[in-house]
Amino acid sequence: MGNESLTITDNRTGKSYELPLKHGNIRAMDLRQIKTTEKDFGVMSYDPAFLNTAACESRITFIDGDLGILRYRGYPIEQLAAKCSYLETAYLLLYGELPDEKKLSDFTARVARHTFIHENMKKFMEGFRYDAHPMSMLVSSIAALSSFYPDAREVHNPEVRELMAIRLIAKIPTIAAYAFRHTNGLPFVYPDNELSYTANFMNMLWKMAEPKFLANPVLAHALDILFILHADHEQNCSTSTMRVVGSSQADPFLSMAAAASALSGPLHGGANEEVLRMIDEIGSIEHIPAFIESVKKGERKLMGFGHRVYKNYDPRAQVIKETADSVFAVTGRNPKVDIAREIEKIALSDEYFVKRRLYPNVDFYSGIIYEAMGFRPEMFTVLFAIPRTSGWLAHWEEQSKDADTKISRPRQVYLGSGERNVK
Ligand code: SDX
Repeated sequence: MGNESLTITDNRTGKSYELPLKHGNIRAMDLRQIKTTEKDFGVMSYDPAFLNTAACESRITFIDGDLGILRYRGYPIEQLAAKCSYLETAYLLLYGELPDEKKLSDFTARVARHTFIHENMKKFMEGFRYDAHPMSMLVSSIAALSSFYPDAREVHNPEVRELMAIRLIAKIPTIAAYAFRHTNGLPFVYPDNELSYTANFMNMLWKMAEPKFLANPVLAHALDILFILHADHEQNCSTSTMRVVGSSQADPFLSMAAAASALSGPLHGGANEEVLRMIDEIGSIEHIPAFIESVKKGERKLMGFGHRVYKNYDPRAQVIKETADSVFAVTGRNPKVDIAREIEKIALSDEYFVKRRLYPNVDFYSGIIYEAMGFRPEMFTVLFAIPRTSGWLAHWEEQSKDADTKISRPRQVYLGSGERNVK
């Protein structure tokens, strides 16, 4: 097997095993041959939260956490944010290459054709209380969409898979905007397919009595950059959920409802909402040191800081920070950015955070921009879910074509009671 292998000696039996390495990793199932007796189940790896487990092979997104590198299909995120649109990026994630002009035009037209949702969905969404959390409305509405497209169950048909991906990318802004309008007691605004993807989303959010909504181009561009930055992030909690649920061959709507549910958690996509609440609680720069002390005592987490993979600055946070000024030039400066920047300055010079390699992540500055644009914190994770839709679907499609794919079903280390009888 040459040197592309590991030799493992079982000290319980003195036996040695040679495990092949592929791309520098062992196949976990090769551990199962390591037994003490023939009846022995064999060795597993115990890895709660999958800290060191590769669940799949993927060609979509590459992250180097130590160097703060993020690339979609090999393109650095900074370049995509500076030179591309969100729809170009969505195409790149789904198809593996940036589209030429014709392909982008066709893709844009296909997405535009699917922005409307069934009228009955409006009745469904009108059933929510006025104060329903927009993520609850989004998750349940994505699942409800499944009932309008029974052919989505044909997960082995590539044309059907592609059509459903286009439908979800096209309809998620419509559902998100309807949730926003509902919580504000405003009538739903139909899509205007003459507008760009992001400007149309703004139209469905903010159009009032004017005959045609005119999106501020600076804000539309800033939102497009934010969408690019949030589009994918390899095997994060919600994308892994999309893959796990999709592995049972559930349809993409129901798989994505599960993914969006995972995203809603405050440790994941819900962090941007928690960052704003944290900054509101701190209230002023003077109160930052006391808050940092409470974090260091383990009483709180510094929301928007830290990351499972990035042990360096999250490259997305840097771009978002730079985008903030262009937004504030239109909306007026959000004074909370001064508190955020002071938190960052203090934290990055404090041993607690330095030792644990805790840096601002994608969620630390995004909410401050969203609030300046007019969104309340409970909408922030919805704004994360819109672009992450293309990432979730790119991974779902990649899994659908992967010969290694089987239904996900982890094992466990059982430490419970042995057999006992009911008296
Ligand atoms: C996203 O996976 C992705 O790619 C996610 C994402 C994406 O694009 O999909 O990037 C989006 O979810 C970004 C993360 C958003 N979440 C937050 O901002 C919430 C706050 N951050 C933490 O909860 C935490 O940093 C996590 C959840 C993000 C990562 O947690 P890990 O990898 O499990 O790290 P850990 O909990 O083992 O922390 C290691 C140490 C611990 O201290 P000790 O026990 O060693 O003393 O660092 C501490 C933690 O207590 N720590 C923090 C902290 N994050 C970690 N201490 C204070 N504040 C924090 N934010």
